[in-house]
Amino acid sequence: MRINDKAAARLKELGVELRPGVSMTDKTSLGIGGTTDEILLRRYESVPEVIGLLRDENIPHRFVGGGTNVLIADGELPWVVLHLPTAKPGMRVEGNAAYVDASADLGGMVTFCAKHDLGGMEGLIGVPGSVGGALRMNAGAYGTQIGPHVREVELYRAASGKIETQRGSEIRFDYRHTSFAPDDLMLRVKLELPSKPFKEILAGIKVCNEKRRASQPLNQKSAGCIFKNPAGGSAGRMIDELGLKGHRVGDAMVSDRHANFFVNSGHASCSDMLKLIDDVRERVRGAYGMELENEVIVWRN
Ligand code: EPU
Repeated sequence: MRINDKAAARLKELGVELRPGVSMTDKTSLGIGGTTDEILLRRYESVPEVIGLLRDENIPHRFVGGGTNVLIADGELPWVVLHLPTAKPGMRVEGNAAYVDASADLGGMVTFCAKHDLGGMEGLIGVPGSVGGALRMNAGAYGTQIGPHVREVELYRAASGKIETQRGSEIRFDYRHTSFAPDDLMLRVKLELPSKPFKEILAGIKVCNEKRRASQPLNQKSAGCIFKNPAGGSAGRMIDELGLKGHRVGDAMVSDRHANFFVNSGHASCSDMLKLIDDVRERVRGAYGMELENEVIVWRN
């Protein structure tokens, strides 16, 4: 989608950078997605005005964070994308509290806190993505989830059109799900973390990194796990038991390392990946009578 000249001129006045015709293949860890105009929100304070302008001009918009858990449609996309710049995100520590911008890299935040002898998030070290994405999905791995550490989130609330602060106790963090509205935009977080010596945290990080390297296809293009684990079950184990590792539609393939990771082994399209997801879901339903729910967020056009 192209931004009209009137809106582009107004965005310029607001000091917002507009990048025309950006390919989402470069913005997502799957390397899949069509093309659209991108708006870079350098100043959080400008967010209400920018989104207000897009609403007034009837320009559909969506927000892309780290792009590590999203499968985006092919071709010309029917919405523009908003993005927070990732260079030099704000991060600071005060006692046991860490104040971090949502655009920060999640792993970068874990190591930053570790250097200040704040631990508790070792399990999250290899989870790709931004702090904002981790908040929205309540990212977790190896027994750690971000939710329990959250004390405050500063966010743009599309419903009110304002930047608001929500207390951790007001937010529901469930397994890969939170009570944030789909159009809430995470801006900053305050976490409270337990004190731990740096060396101890580092040892924990090393263990998690090794486990991850041994079981996940880290050097291939993926969005992490495609399906949520059903209660009491393991999506990866079921797909593996059905002999589906290496199963493919075009260049979209079930990883031969971890069966709940679907990888782009070349130039997979969104449509290839969706066909593979539906095919695997159907086979699991047929064999186990279980309906797998997507973990990856799908943006169809
Ligand atoms: N398994 C297989 N074959 C496979 C994959 C797994 O038999 O191809 C078996 C494993 O041997 C193990 C069980 O399935 O007995 C569970 O596997 P694993 O320990 O790899 O964990 P997972 O449940 O598949 C979850 C998260 C991952 C997270 C890991 C580590 C979900 C959907 N996935 O995977 O998160 O990294 O635990 O904590 O909750 C993600 O969210 O994108 C993600 C990758």
